[in-house]
Amino acid sequence: MNILLIGGGGREHALAWKLAQSPLLDTLYAAPGNPGIAAEGARCVALDTGDHDAVLAFVAEHDIGLTVIGPEQPLVDGLADTLRAKGRKVFGPSASAARLEGSKGFTKDLCSKYDIPTAAYGRFRAAAEAKDFLERLTPPYVIKADGLAAGKGVVIAETRADADAAIDDMLGGRFGEAGAELVIEEFLAGEEASFFALCDGKTVLPLAGAQDHKRVGDGDTGPNTGGMGAYSPAPILDEAMQARVLAEIVEPTARAMAAEGSPFIGVLYAGLMIGADGPKLIEYNARFGDPECQVLMMRMKSDLLPALLATAEGQLDHFALQWSDNHAMTVVMAAEGYPGTPKKGGTIAGLNAAEADGAKIFHAGTTLGDDGALTASGGRVLNITAMAPTLRAAADTAYAAIDRIEWQDGFWRRDIGKAAL
Ligand code: AMP
Ligand code: GLY
Repeated sequence: MNILLIGGGGREHALAWKLAQSPLLDTLYAAPGNPGIAAEGARCVALDTGDHDAVLAFVAEHDIGLTVIGPEQPLVDGLADTLRAKGRKVFGPSASAARLEGSKGFTKDLCSKYDIPTAAYGRFRAAAEAKDFLERLTPPYVIKADGLAAGKGVVIAETRADADAAIDDMLGGRFGEAGAELVIEEFLAGEEASFFALCDGKTVLPLAGAQDHKRVGDGDTGPNTGGMGAYSPAPILDEAMQARVLAEIVEPTARAMAAEGSPFIGVLYAGLMIGADGPKLIEYNARFGDPECQVLMMRMKSDLLPALLATAEGQLDHFALQWSDNHAMTVVMAAEGYPGTPKKGGTIAGLNAAEADGAKIFHAGTTLGDDGALTASGGRVLNITAMAPTLRAAADTAYAAIDRIEWQDGFWRRDIGKAAL
């Protein structure tokens, strides 16, 4: 089968690496892909994925049996709908189902209607009402832009003044249309973890848990990023807790989406707060996490291709996946300046030596020049990934690999996994 993979980050490289191992794969196309994805044997194509008719034409021309959509934007834009309407198989939710990620207010209302545990909340379009609502809460205050804001749409304010300022800022147009409506919610205490499950519209197939590191600096300091490192399994998501998350949060969500006429087809990424009274949903994403996908793919022993296909075909009942009990870790190497303006163009060398002791390097923002030189071309650039019987050993392998990479502008967190170690 030929597959079209949409995206070109570390998440998509990890998916490409897994798909390339499948005996069922003929040709893997990636749009736009990246040099790491190309090195897995994929054909990287310049396809404007915002042009849905162009994607449809590509799928027909190249006999694509399954399109796998990595990032959220094409999902929210309805690319899966366009393809499905023409009878094409897609791994990824409809625009309507992707509202689980694309509208925080939608998800909060769904949780409220179907008794899915989450923080108490209000939805607001007017600053005065939003500020009145703060009177009913105790600090810290949690203020969120409703729509997609590239991970920057959440403010946790310690004081009323900061909270008021965040409300004015967001409603004042800082995130454009995405911030025209706000969700204000109760602050949840506890430990954060992410849980992933495939959903074919009816059946939920649990994948695994992972823990991300969102802040740019060691010790969880500095601004939020897309994620600076991850590990799996997440100790807090032991078997009993996973069973609760499935029964109390993920399965009721899948049933609710089907009941609302928006069955979810793809991967549900539940961001959770595990507190004294059990797991609560912080947010959903309608796609794999990046870099969480990288550690999940390392641990997945089964062939990924039939799992994605079964999801797209509504055939997940009686489907099972095998997982390694080993611990996987990925450390993100980012370019100086990230999450602000990253320094681009620096030369990267030493990747073969870095992989020699068992680490796997997934590319994100890299470019391969005509002269064969690899350069940095994004914020998050490399994902140094390792798996071992202990998290400590995985960390040792990943950090030893980083020491062999020659890239002047790169930086990385030195404490990935510290909480679990
Ligand atoms: P989100 O983009 O919704 O995942 O929020 C970004 C981060 O803000 C989360 O990873 C949490 O650390 C934090 N956060 C969001 N909502 C809450 C909440 N209700 N209580 C405590 N922390 C939260
Ligand atoms: N690593 C967080 C995300 O993918 O949203």
